[in-house]
Amino acid sequence: MSPTGGPGPAGLTVGVPSETKDRERRVGLTPSAAGAVIDAGHRVLIERGAGEGAGFPDLVYEKVGAELVEQAEQAWAADLVVKVKEPQPTEYAYFRPDLTLFTFLHLAAEPELTAALVAAGTSAYAYETLTGRGGLPLLAPMSEIAGRAAAIVGAAQLSTAAGGSGTLMGGAAGVPPAKVMVIGLGVAGSCAARGLRGLGAHVTGVDVDLGRLYQLRNDGVVDATLSSEPALLGEHLRLADLVIGAALVPGARAPVVVSAEQVETMRPGSVVVDLAIDQGGCVATARPTSLSNPTYLERGVVHYCVTNVPGQFPRTASAALSAAVLPRLLRLADDVAQGRAGTDDEHPSLAGACNVRDHAVVHPVVAEALAGVGGHG
Ligand SMILES: NC(=O)c1ccc[n+]([C@@H]2O[C@H](COP(=O)([O-])OP(=O)(O)OC[C@H]3O[C@@H](n4cnc5c(N)ncnc54)[C@H](O)[C@@H]3O)[C@@H](O)[C@H]2O)c1
Repeated sequence: MSPTGGPGPAGLTVGVPSETKDRERRVGLTPSAAGAVIDAGHRVLIERGAGEGAGFPDLVYEKVGAELVEQAEQAWAADLVVKVKEPQPTEYAYFRPDLTLFTFLHLAAEPELTAALVAAGTSAYAYETLTGRGGLPLLAPMSEIAGRAAAIVGAAQLSTAAGGSGTLMGGAAGVPPAKVMVIGLGVAGSCAARGLRGLGAHVTGVDVDLGRLYQLRNDGVVDATLSSEPALLGEHLRLADLVIGAALVPGARAPVVVSAEQVETMRPGSVVVDLAIDQGGCVATARPTSLSNPTYLERGVVHYCVTNVPGQFPRTASAALSAAVLPRLLRLADDVAQGRAGTDDEHPSLAGACNVRDHAVVHPVVAEALAGVGGHG
């Protein structure tokens, strides 16, 4: 269906609404990606101004043949909506049975969003659970950016101006560098570790994957490694200036690796940056914060738990996300148009992405995580 009259001649309508999360400036499709969707025979309806914050003016979308719509609801009325962040409560009213949604969802940490999708019967495909080549190809570009940003943010939060202890990452002649612990050395964690070592910090990497620890220690990405066991972490946490949380079990709630009691033992003015907060957080005292209000102090420790860290680098992040999403979006559009979406014939490049379909949570790990919080398993 379309807000401007019927589906396109050979395909679907693909809607790109403006992002509504606090200070989120990314856009679901760059103009070049929108052009590729149009070249594949679909119509693209872009909400006026949706790309402005990422440096893509309306005019550039018009040049590639996208149609500007004035209201969010017109973009949401498309057959397939492509976004960046999980829909906000004000957007739940747009859900309907003949809508396919392709975006970050993080449903394990979003029981209310899950309930709204299930009730509406919307087909919801999540970027963060789509698997390919042994990894998470749509999460990876955002984790790369969030990891690099975490190094900058973590170092800045340690200044007294930001409420930190006043410890400089690289130390000085005769003064040792800051001690950093990075929990989860996947894409985000290893990017954070690289950045922090570049700033001169002493970085200890923590993971359950010993092979990964071996490799990253060998490659010089971290100075030291620790197996992820609570008893082993205690003494290191007491001395840590900065803890980065980046542990993930795809689809599931983040593993809680650091307890509230362990946070209590950390030094006043030390800093926690919990990137895993979008999946519930891997530090027990972490709770979601926004780009407008990114930090809070708990037990003397500065907590930075922003759920959309890449949203403050929208130009880089939109380009990186669009490049990764585009080939899968074209497959999904094809599958929706041919009635293959959500069936056994669905294209393999969409493996693991479908989270909600036919009024049910269909991703087994997400369903299990939600069952644990009395959700929609
Ligand atoms: N806050 C944000 O803005 C933002 C942006 C991008 C990504 N993220 C999040 O960052 C997190 C990490 O993403 P990623 O792409 O790097 O994941 P990844 O799959 O590449 O890496 C996760 C790592 O965690 C490890 N791990 C699993 N269980 C562990 C445990 N109990 N203890 C220690 N390590 C454990 C895994 O072995 C793996 O090495 C995810 O929650 C992701 O959604 C947040």
